Amino acid sequence: MATILDGKKLRDKIFESLKAKLDKMPQKPTLAVILVGENPASQIYVRNKKKTAEKLGINSLSIEYPSDVSEEELLNKIKELNSNEKVTAILVQLPLPAHINKNKIIDAILPQKDVDGLTPYNLGKLFSGEEPYVYPCTPKGILLLLDEYNIELEGKNIVVVGRSNLVGKPVAQMLLKRNATVTMCHSHTKNLPEITKTADIIVSAVGKKVIGEKMLKSNCVVIDVGIFRDENGKISGDVDFESVSKTAAYISPVPGGVGPMTIASLMLNTVELAGK
Ligand code: GUN
Repeated sequence: MATILDGKKLRDKIFESLKAKLDKMPQKPTLAVILVGENPASQIYVRNKKKTAEKLGINSLSIEYPSDVSEEELLNKIKELNSNEKVTAILVQLPLPAHINKNKIIDAILPQKDVDGLTPYNLGKLFSGEEPYVYPCTPKGILLLLDEYNIELEGKNIVVVGRSNLVGKPVAQMLLKRNATVTMCHSHTKNLPEITKTADIIVSAVGKKVIGEKMLKSNCVVIDVGIFRDENGKISGDVDFESVSKTAAYISPVPGGVGPMTIASLMLNTVELAGK
């Protein structure tokens, strides 16, 4: 049976140390969160982020818009938050409605306040092997979780499934920086099982049930980033937990694995930016 990579336990440990750090900060950070529209998952995530920030002693500023908000109005709000000295961190919850150019919105955030590490400046620093102001939250959380369980990365074959800017691409870069041999797979990859079978570690960030036990070698490490509701309304991940957990060495569950680590990283990033 696989060892469970317990994201909740590590999140709580991170929160303990963050709380102690925040208690000593004379000026508390302020995290501004922009939510557009009524995507139920986004509403839950944003509520969670705000609640967690406040619990730790981080100020939170919530800005909500209907789904038909104009790009211009969003850009003006970001400009205002960029120049507001009290605001130390800005997050635009994704996805955004189709009529809004997501990249244009993210590009408007000041890199020093880009708590998701998703602006071209911060991603560019990451991709050129330099230090960004902060690293993207989910990839950062994945590495913290692997490190907590002393899982060696150097020289390992790591297969990343999914090539999003939010997870797949940045996590691959971060793993390369740690001297892993990284293979990227996506919806056009031919013979996915042939490739996943070579993985010492697999990171799946697709949002569909794509990873089964027959696709993996035994004793591998499985990081499941997917989170969605299955046809019965049950919260599920990309990986068939039932079968894979019997043969893998380590597995991150859904829920309770990468999800709590994303929020822990967001809080870490908020505190890091306030100190820069
Ligand atoms: N939507 C899903 N995950 C994330 C995230 O980490 N940051 C932002 N801004 N939006 C998301």
